[in-house]
Amino acid sequence: MPDLAHGDDHDVADDLDIEQPLALVRYLRQTGRIAPGEVPVVRTLPGGVSNRVVLVERPGGEAWVVKQALAKLRVAVDWFSPPERIGREALGLRWLTRLAPGSTPRLLFEDPAHHLLAMAAVPQPHANWKTLLLGGPPDPDHVAQFGALLGTIHRRGHAARRELEPVFADRSYFESLRLEPYFGFAAEREPAAAAFLAALGAEIRQHRLTLVHGDYSPKNVLVHAGRLVLLDHEVIHFGDPAFDLGFSLTHLLSKANHLPAHRDAFAAAATAYWRTYRDTLGAAPWTAGLEPRAVRATLGCLLARVAGRSPLEYLDAAGRDRQQAAVLALIAEPPCTVPDLVRGFIARLSGR
Ligand SMILES: Nc1ncnc2c1ncn2[C@@H]1O[C@H](COP(=O)(O)OP(=O)(O)O)[C@@H](O)[C@H]1O
Ligand SMILES: [Mg+2]
Repeated sequence: MPDLAHGDDHDVADDLDIEQPLALVRYLRQTGRIAPGEVPVVRTLPGGVSNRVVLVERPGGEAWVVKQALAKLRVAVDWFSPPERIGREALGLRWLTRLAPGSTPRLLFEDPAHHLLAMAAVPQPHANWKTLLLGGPPDPDHVAQFGALLGTIHRRGHAARRELEPVFADRSYFESLRLEPYFGFAAEREPAAAAFLAALGAEIRQHRLTLVHGDYSPKNVLVHAGRLVLLDHEVIHFGDPAFDLGFSLTHLLSKANHLPAHRDAFAAAATAYWRTYRDTLGAAPWTAGLEPRAVRATLGCLLARVAGRSPLEYLDAAGRDRQQAAVLALIAEPPCTVPDLVRGFIARLSGR
């Protein structure tokens, strides 16, 4: 156990590593975030791939999460991304609090020089929604909240576009962490889908409609007291809402593939998710063409999560092959609606 009560007489290092408890406590004291003699309990949280994520429990009972962006992601292949993206996450936290109050943790402070921010910790007990889903079947209320939250972000993001577009116009993180590794890499691996993926990437780049989270995954959702809390906003940008739909529907449908005992429940959840989203979004003219584009984005993401740079870890080789074959059959003539996509995907998984 490091002695957190001592060691204050160093300057804050430029290469501060918040996973080093002594260094983090020294930093929090020297920057006046905590009192000079205060001794918090600090613990690294698991699950961070592109960030260091540390829980700080203060003696008064308050709990913070400090998040520091890494330049090199913790994945099997070499994958780099500028750590300045933590600034994007802080902007995301600020704006999501305005657009969808109570759905994200409160931002406490940010420090661009050390590529970190601090937010309120989601209180215990809480569960990661991905963990709950892998235990199946999905809770319909959680699914409805997931759809309503995305619909709210997209609807209000579009309404506030004059303010939002200039703030979130840069899409370089979205390009390097999503479009290239998902669609670009999968296109190289799967030539039969290359033209489809290139066209999909082009149409996603073309549509600049609203605030897009970019990482709208059950893994980035905690469930506390029955409410969903959304985390991890580093690829948020102004762009095409079809991407968030494709990315998130992929998680529900890949679990339908992975968990045959709950296949029908996950299929129903995917359709219910879409309906709640659409009812929350409303039928404004700017949403024309969104549903078929969301279907294509889902097909692209379903393929990318078995043939891209970031494959789903829970699918085995047979599961990956099943998913790939189903997608390749469907991209020949993509369905126009989400319910048709769900039916077609499930039928091909089950050999029906
Ligand atoms: N505010 C928070 N409260 C509680 N746990 C959190 C909070 N922020 C992150 N975590 C935990 O840390 C994990 C990784 O955080 P995340 O922001 O998703 O980082 P990464 O970008 O590396 O994926 C989350 O899955 C969650 O378990
Ligand atoms: Mg995450």
